[in-house]
Amino acid sequence: MTQTPVLFVDDEPDLRIAGEQTLSLADLPVIACARAEAALDHISPAFPGVLVTDIRMPGMDGTALMAEALRRDPDLPVILVTGHGDVDLAVHSMRLGAYDFIEKPYAPDRLVQVIRRALDKRRLTMEVRALKAQAADGSADPISAQLIGRSTAMAQLRAQLKAVAETETDVLIEGATGTGKEVAARALHAASARAARPFVAINCAALPETLMESELFGHAPGAFEGATRERYGKFQHARGGTLFLDQIDSIPLPLQGKLLTALQDRAITPLGTNEAVALDLRVIAASRRDLAQAAAEGAFRDDLLYRLNVVTLRMPPLAERREDIPGLFQILLANASARHNRPVPAVSPDMLADLASRDWPGNIRELRNEAERAILGLGHGGAASETGRLADQMAAHERSLIAATLSAQNGSIKATYEALGISRKALYEKMQKHGLARDDFRPADRA
Ligand SMILES: Nc1ncnc2c1ncn2[C@@H]1O[C@H](COP(=O)(O)OP(=O)(O)OP(=O)(O)O)[C@@H](O)[C@H]1O
Ligand SMILES: [Mg+2]
Repeated sequence: MTQTPVLFVDDEPDLRIAGEQTLSLADLPVIACARAEAALDHISPAFPGVLVTDIRMPGMDGTALMAEALRRDPDLPVILVTGHGDVDLAVHSMRLGAYDFIEKPYAPDRLVQVIRRALDKRRLTMEVRALKAQAADGSADPISAQLIGRSTAMAQLRAQLKAVAETETDVLIEGATGTGKEVAARALHAASARAARPFVAINCAALPETLMESELFGHAPGAFEGATRERYGKFQHARGGTLFLDQIDSIPLPLQGKLLTALQDRAITPLGTNEAVALDLRVIAASRRDLAQAAAEGAFRDDLLYRLNVVTLRMPPLAERREDIPGLFQILLANASARHNRPVPAVSPDMLADLASRDWPGNIRELRNEAERAILGLGHGGAASETGRLADQMAAHERSLIAATLSAQNGSIKATYEALGISRKALYEKMQKHGLARDDFRPADRA
């Protein structure tokens, strides 16, 4: 089942063979060594397994072996096997960084149980390291750096994004809320030949219909009442770069026709002018809704859909890539701890398994908020959960949820009420009720 081996060190042949048999019966691959020096040959940061060693041995003893092993990799779980009654020694070794200890004589089950837990921990360490290495590699490759995850779905998505980044084609990105559509769009832009040119994002759902046309295409002075000066639209701002049309399914039908013309002709005509302005840009559109279905229902133009979906990328929801959740959560924790300048709390394999089994309808955004809560010490239920009436508990929970979301969104009111799925007004009312001020949640360097 597992490729992660157990290094088992004991100078006594009987105990060594017994240990080897116990572990083999439990389906755990073993490398048995009679001497500490032999075990050291296997130990490096790349060693995927754990170390189990007897303490009292001729030559290099178990504590010296542990010290050298931890010098090579401070995260390596080391399990010490102590003689009966060596409690002081055991306690001392724990202080020196042992993962656990087992007292001789031990039951085979106990050995297997302790090793399995250590292996779980080792696997997580290795996974997080691989993810961090992937993220750190980012200067060269923004797509690998931003779209982390070892699931097949993510590997495929990265490959698609990289292939598309090299082309000029427009792209449609579909996916549920919080799956990273905007992150993908930005990474695609950053990996493309247009990287040095602007990336301009517009959320089509956030604009009233009356403003949208001029917002997209710009207008001449006097184009409509109140248009005193010439104004560039998003298309012109994005020239040479990438225009990100978020929530494109919210564009009203009449404007969909103009958008189609702009995409087909690669030119726009600002409101109140007759002059077409040629465009050199890539359009990336995003939608939470299945656009083909929207088209089938008559809410979206077929021809615009065909124009956009030459390349369609689907962002997989977390529920379809649960194997990515533990690693992703630890990366998000590390990011949140850096943002708030707080230590990373210990995360047990149990807790990660629990996270991986949840549904996460808000996807990465929700997972990010959970990491944020953990960093701010606002774990599920909140501090008030032991006492107080239900209403108080719910108020406390609501407050921490809003605080964590504000924090995750760097104090952006809009991003916060969107993430929470409430109205702007409701958010303001709740912030006032709980005494929360947005300025407290802006990053320090911008405050
Ligand atoms: N691979 C990732 N690694 C770390 N954080 C991520 C990743 N993908 C997304 N996020 C974070 O998750 C949140 C949501 O991402 P994003 O805004 O791209 O989602 P979306 O699909 O556009 O959602 P919506 O449909 O609600 O607009 C953001 O805070 C983003 O920083
Ligand atoms: Mg988005």
